[in-house]
Amino acid sequence: MHATIAVLPGDGVGSEVIGCAVKVLRMVASHGGHTLEFREALIGGGAIDAVGHPLPESTLALCQDSDAVLFGAVGGPKWDDPRANVRPEQGLMALRKGLDLFANLRPVKLNASLLPASRIKPEIIAGTDLVIVRELSSGIYYGRRGRGEQEGDLMAYDTMAYTVPEIERVMHVAFRLARKRRGKLTSVDKANVLEVCRLWREVASKTAAEYPHVALEHLLVDATAMHLIRRPREFDVIVTSNMFGDILTDEAAMLSGSLGMAPSASLGTGSQGLYEPIHGTAPDIAGRDIANPIAAILSVALLLRHSLDLEEEACAVEAAVDKVLSDGYRTADIAQEGTVTLGTVEMASRIVDALAG
Ligand code: IPM
Ligand code: MG
Repeated sequence: MHATIAVLPGDGVGSEVIGCAVKVLRMVASHGGHTLEFREALIGGGAIDAVGHPLPESTLALCQDSDAVLFGAVGGPKWDDPRANVRPEQGLMALRKGLDLFANLRPVKLNASLLPASRIKPEIIAGTDLVIVRELSSGIYYGRRGRGEQEGDLMAYDTMAYTVPEIERVMHVAFRLARKRRGKLTSVDKANVLEVCRLWREVASKTAAEYPHVALEHLLVDATAMHLIRRPREFDVIVTSNMFGDILTDEAAMLSGSLGMAPSASLGTGSQGLYEPIHGTAPDIAGRDIANPIAAILSVALLLRHSLDLEEEACAVEAAVDKVLSDGYRTADIAQEGTVTLGTVEMASRIVDALAG
């Protein structure tokens, strides 16, 4: 097959881990006789420095024109002035909106050889296999915001709004996914306080009628935060709004031992998608060849699966990661007693070698 991939490394460790991800994709392509065309573009802080905008028009156009986008991370102390008008994160937010990527899939599957690396007791965590579906292009991150004055005091506000179609479309993604998996969907909200969440709950219940083989439960977001740590194994698919999903996915990613292990796929209605590690730019370790490239490499597996329909290749990448981990190789974030610690590039090379067979 032939496909074009937009490559957006971004800032900090972004370029290090995306470099690794591209190596893996190249190996998959050469192995399977596929031609993949990579086109790199600027986003985030690097784009602000170069052209004054976190998402240059040319970058958006290139992404719109690609079958999939491979994305690293954006942000860093250099651009962190809270009063700045342009911020690197705006580039990612605008790109998600610009490609209409409304469903963000964040799987958490515990690799057996990483059990001891998790902060959670093995008897609680073993066997965890869940996916969080986070609504990605609406809600409070895209609502009206501003500053004003209230009774003489400075005030600021952000608004959280969802239309019924916005809730419905992400629900359908979650229900379809749950139907293919263990048939359980947990819809997470704060319906005891927020009106928008009461609508969220109504739409979830209504959509459930179309999926008789999926069991739907509703759970409040604060309770979910607790149950993720207390009984992670019992979750199958979780669907939630933008901000709750942002928070819960960082928490859930830690179940697997490190944020450095967690991939994600952002999808819209077609097969086009954006694939990125959940972790950020990690400025404290950037440029030192110690970042874990596995989240980016597992994002490649999701790209193969969801955008290129190459399931076999996707599984091969996941198996290669498993093999290298069970052979005892680790990056520093997941190192344990008796394992061999590798740098970013070396870890990626091992995975590429494992893929080559
Ligand atoms: C994430 C990140 C982003 C988000 C930031 C960088 C805007 O935290 O992908 O989870 O909040 O969506
Ligand atoms: Mg986040």
